[in-house]
Amino acid sequence: MTQSKKMMMVIGFYVVALMAVAFGAPQMPPPGAFPPLPRELEQVLPADAVEKLKAIHGDTSLGFKEKHEKIDQIMSALPTDILDKIPPPPGFAQLPEDIQQKLKAINRNPNISWEEKQKQTKVVIEGLPPHLRHLLPPPMPLPPRFRSFA
Ligand SMILES: *[C@@H]1O[C@H](CO)[C@@H](O)[C@H](O)[C@H]1NC(C)=O
Repeated sequence: MTQSKKMMMVIGFYVVALMAVAFGAPQMPPPGAFPPLPRELEQVLPADAVEKLKAIHGDTSLGFKEKHEKIDQIMSALPTDILDKIPPPPGFAQLPEDIQQKLKAINRNPNISWEEKQKQTKVVIEGLPPHLRHLLPPPMPLPPRFRSFA
């Protein structure tokens, strides 16, 4: 996988609350290998959000899910015009407009948890016909202890 493709997947992981996990056979970096804040995000997010996100990424006292919950709270609180500047994950732009809107609405809803967003995202993705589902990034393998999130 190319470096830029990898980067897009890391970014995608923000945009659609771990869409890859929602696919069912997720794979995330092992504990301690939580990816750093992508530079592409740093460039479009407000400085205070970047600072908070970096602190969360680097906080070794937080578990995988706790990090995602905290990151999601910060991302969900950002205005739409900023969220719209974040590059979407590969394949996302090729989905039908109504599906794109549905996924964005789920992932931008500040009233539901990260875990709930993953569940709802999974339902939408599993409801897609195979040719659309295949546009999205392949599921990323997860260490067994994370499987319960899927
Ligand atoms: C979140 O909750 C607030 C307060 O109940 C409500 O006004 C808002 O419409 C909700 N947002 C979404 C996206 O459901």
